[in-house]
Amino acid sequence: MHIVAIDGPAGSGKSSVSKAVARKLAFGYLDTGAAYRALTWKLLSDSLNAADVDKDFLETKLNYQISLDPDNYWVKVGQTDVTYEIRETRIGERVSEIAQLPVVRQYMHWLTHNLVEGSGFAGIVVEGRDITTVVYPEAQTKILLTASEEVRLRRRSAELPEGISIAEQITKRDQNDAKVVDFLSPAPGVELVDSSELDFDSTVEAIIVIIERTK
Ligand code: DC
Repeated sequence: MHIVAIDGPAGSGKSSVSKAVARKLAFGYLDTGAAYRALTWKLLSDSLNAADVDKDFLETKLNYQISLDPDNYWVKVGQTDVTYEIRETRIGERVSEIAQLPVVRQYMHWLTHNLVEGSGFAGIVVEGRDITTVVYPEAQTKILLTASEEVRLRRRSAELPEGISIAEQITKRDQNDAKVVDFLSPAPGVELVDSSELDFDSTVEAIIVIIERTK
């Protein structure tokens, strides 16, 4: 299986770009951040907090499911479809704190391997914060997708009506996330794609060129 690992900060466009790349190549697509968001959703909906998360909770209570089809993307916790709810501001505000727990990171590492290796695709695009460095350092293709902070904030506030509060949230989240994973500078063997000056289609194309070269 050809594994394409893509890391990048919030607002770099990695989710929409990764999804488009997967679609073009008929690969699977795995959004690893969705699992951290779904866990945060579960904790909030059960009125629990970080101290309640342990291995047993993650393995038996979370019941996380995610689609790997870039044309039919959904996320579920148990029977509940949380695809849209996990994008809400209330989740974005809490997710970094949950993502910093070592027990959570260890579980997510295992979960990602489990989903990828059981996916049955010829190739899969896996995106997140630590995929090229921690989760899949052995991936055939490793890319760090970045954009300047100014561009990232502009893209995000164009997508969402909340504007400035989203900008503040992204900056804060990057600072928090950076405490656990250095996702702003490429590790050895990781190719940097800076999309500050590229439009969406050119960014997708730049990544496909790298994938073809690393096949
Ligand atoms: O990509 P995203 O915004 O949906 O990610 C949500 C949060 O999960 C983000 O604050 C960082 C964390 N995350 C992580 O620590 N490692 C990953 N592989 C993916 C996401």
